[in-house]
Amino acid sequence: MASPLLLLPILMAPVVFAAVLAFLVRPRPVRIPIKGRHVFITGGSSGIGLALARLAAAEGAHVSILARRAAHLQEARDAIRLATGVDVAIFSADVRDADAVAKAVEAAGPVDVLVCNHGVFTPQELEKQDLEEVRFMVEVNLMGTFNLIKAALPTMKQRTKVTGLPASIAIMSSQAGQHRRRPDLTNIIAGSSGGMKADDVAKKALDGIKSSRFIVPCNFEGTMLSIATAGLSPQSSFLTALAEVLGAGFMRFMGLCFQWNWFSSIENWHSKKKGL
Ligand SMILES: NC(=O)c1ccc[n+]([C@@H]2O[C@H](COP(=O)([O-])OP(=O)(O)OC[C@H]3O[C@@H](n4cnc5c(N)ncnc54)[C@H](OP(=O)(O)O)[C@@H]3O)[C@@H](O)[C@H]2O)c1
Repeated sequence: MASPLLLLPILMAPVVFAAVLAFLVRPRPVRIPIKGRHVFITGGSSGIGLALARLAAAEGAHVSILARRAAHLQEARDAIRLATGVDVAIFSADVRDADAVAKAVEAAGPVDVLVCNHGVFTPQELEKQDLEEVRFMVEVNLMGTFNLIKAALPTMKQRTKVTGLPASIAIMSSQAGQHRRRPDLTNIIAGSSGGMKADDVAKKALDGIKSSRFIVPCNFEGTMLSIATAGLSPQSSFLTALAEVLGAGFMRFMGLCFQWNWFSSIENWHSKKKGL
């Protein structure tokens, strides 16, 4: 029988490895306070952005929301006031318009937490998709985010020097958003993961922002993806780093299982189409 002393190195190995990761991980974890700070949320008139604005207002943040349609912004402000008793500032601008974004950000005042949550999604099979639609998505989702960060960053940096508190920029992305025009196959593949409520996504996003996480997955598939694709991303939690190091191979295996499932669905879909 093996001596307990021989088991010691095996038992100690994970502890030593975790200690090495605790030394390695950068940047160091920080808390991003929300209370009393200026949280600026784009796409704050609807869905996840509205839920985030409501949550941040309820936690005592000064909230500004930006979207294109003024009437929807006013409705959002009324809904947030009704739910929390707090008034949020509203700004009407198209994120594609760099000047309009700069003016809105200037009028809102220095930002502590910028949430680039605006997003458009016009799904279509590539052969049928109009390139103007692709350009529109790139202009809103990508260039709009650059416009915002460029407008807000200088005063955010100055403000952190004055307050001594860390600031944060969060960018919302999507695995597969819901859309009435989504192609059949996208629906089938996206159907393998359950949808989430805007309030639940907002809660996870705000918790992730407050604990300064680089990637904030909202569900199991998102967590899997974030571990499988962690690559060169920064990681401030040594425990998550441990999960990434130990789980990467297994997550790749799980990814291949998902692919196998999706390919079976695609093959079934094609054979059904041929049979019609
Ligand atoms: N819903 C999903 O299934 C899903 C899944 C995963 C991730 N996401 C991501 O989460 C974010 C929010 O999604 P959501 O479904 O909550 O969105 P949503 O309800 O469709 O709301 C989009 C918001 O963005 C604003 N917006 C759109 N284009 C804009 C522009 N050019 N300039 C300024 N504001 C603009 C809209 O207001 P106006 O139209 O008035 O401008 C609205 O406030 C998006 O980034 C999306 O990709 C969504």
